[in-house]
Amino acid sequence: MKRRNFVKLGILSSASLSLYAKEKSSVHFYKAFTQALLIPPLAKASVLKDGTKEFNLNLQEGEVSFLQGAKTKTYGINGNFLGPTIKVERNDSIKINVKNSLKEESVIHWHGLHLEGHNDGGPNRSIKKNTSWSTTFKIQQRAATYWYHPHTHKKTGEQTYKGLAGLFIIEDEDSKKANLPKEYGVDDIPLIIQDRRFDKNANFVYKYSMHDEMMGVKGKVFLVNGVNAPYVDVSAKTIRLRILNGSNARFYSLVFSNNQDFFQIAGDASFLEKPLKIKKLLLAPGERAEILVDVSTLKNTSIYLGDSLSNKALLKINIKNEKKQNFILPSRLTTINEYSNITKEKALRIRHFSLDMRMMWMGINAKQMDMSYINEKVILGETEIWRIKNNNEMPHPFHIHGCSFKVLSRNNKGIFSNETGLKDTVVVYGEETLDLLVRFNYKASKEFPFMYHCHILEHEDAGMMGQFTVEEKK
Ligand code: C2O
Ligand code: CU
Ligand code: CU
Repeated sequence: MKRRNFVKLGILSSASLSLYAKEKSSVHFYKAFTQALLIPPLAKASVLKDGTKEFNLNLQEGEVSFLQGAKTKTYGINGNFLGPTIKVERNDSIKINVKNSLKEESVIHWHGLHLEGHNDGGPNRSIKKNTSWSTTFKIQQRAATYWYHPHTHKKTGEQTYKGLAGLFIIEDEDSKKANLPKEYGVDDIPLIIQDRRFDKNANFVYKYSMHDEMMGVKGKVFLVNGVNAPYVDVSAKTIRLRILNGSNARFYSLVFSNNQDFFQIAGDASFLEKPLKIKKLLLAPGERAEILVDVSTLKNTSIYLGDSLSNKALLKINIKNEKKQNFILPSRLTTINEYSNITKEKALRIRHFSLDMRMMWMGINAKQMDMSYINEKVILGETEIWRIKNNNEMPHPFHIHGCSFKVLSRNNKGIFSNETGLKDTVVVYGEETLDLLVRFNYKASKEFPFMYHCHILEHEDAGMMGQFTVEEKK
């Protein structure tokens, strides 16, 4: 698929609803946006004597009525589907207890977090069924919307599909002092966007063909926070949406049905320095963005958040008639200084990665993920360029554990205006070469190494992944 086609903006009409199966069955897809959007609850922390905030996550089986008149078997975290939002601040010490009440092994990875490899929840950290894993670490990174999901060897795709995922929100000095909507679930609304397919009994249909493995599993039913065709009521003012593409393989180009402008204020792992005015937002699996949407002039009307790639509406936004004070858009949100002064010449080395995909085979640097093989050895604190070359036509969202990186160039030229902040997942389009500035400030041993991989979860599970250690210079 050529990039030109891939990012092409379709015209979204509010009539383009989530219609799917034409076959006769007892299961009905919601055709109107009549279900209220669920807001993932904030995870409750208990504060230990030394001030550590302790969270408990329980991976469990569940059942949800996504479709009318039928129940779907699911996985969830402290609930039936998805998990609570963990919300913490920079410098917090936290402890998370992950209990696995499933009938199979699993593990939870903290996507985007800076921590040592043994805390990272990679595949080497497998939690056997009926056992628990406790991890303690300090939050030492920027405010942004991160997330957590399973990283089980060869089962990440399937377990995420069933419902294991949640948000991990970090606040810092910049985010606390910024004049932004901050009321969680009210004007600061988290949106986990996913797609699913169902059989005629309303069960999830995960991978069943080679095509699914090569292209990734995509469904025609869209869920937002686990709700099909939801609506949300908001005041007539500027609202903030924290959006996670939590899909296994689907890319979205998010637009509003009235084609209005909005401002992107944050990407994966930081604010943008300044709000960026846009009309559409491309999000690949694993990527996040925060946006501000001014609906102050739309009292008593509704708009839809939609996807211009599939031409489907995802969420109906009803704007209520409450008068709210005027909002002044911040002119500056932060300063990104992590990689300032580092140019191509100053990076210590260039490390090469090629994303390889042939008929029925995929890997990185001609190798497939092997749990017993360390692909790369990185030195703690050294800045490097990771040069990612996509050797095929299909775009791959490349993700690195244990760091936030800066996109330096695409094909030796400029980068997109919304990827100027820090990121941890970035799309490498067909035949493209990206240079990323990376630096790891936390160690990872060969027992618990970090991963880099494609975030199309079927590609990850099929071997488009590698492991690396981070150690002090000897
Ligand atoms: Cu979001 Cu290694 O993953
Ligand atoms: Cu990750
Ligand atoms: Cu891929």
